[in-house]
Amino acid sequence: MELDDKLCYCFHVTQRKVVNYIRLHKPKVPSQLSECGGAGTGCGWCVPYLKKCFAAESDGPESTIELTAEEYATQRATYIAAGKKR
Ligand code: FES
Repeated sequence: MELDDKLCYCFHVTQRKVVNYIRLHKPKVPSQLSECGGAGTGCGWCVPYLKKCFAAESDGPESTIELTAEEYATQRATYIAAGKKR
């Protein structure tokens, strides 16, 4: 995924916004990313990916999201259609 691709579809938060939030605010735990435009507080789909972004900032780029934006959107649509949202 590219930085300008949407990470949280519920609240229209891009990966760039999350990465910048992590760099500026230095959250201690991934759940603090909810303060970045509400990311992760909707359907819950993006939570594992928010955790990956959090890990990538401390562990390095091997923790980045390897899906394309299209794959990510398709998998999220499947998640919603399956009624798995919280
Ligand atoms: S996509 Fe982020 S909470 Fe739904």
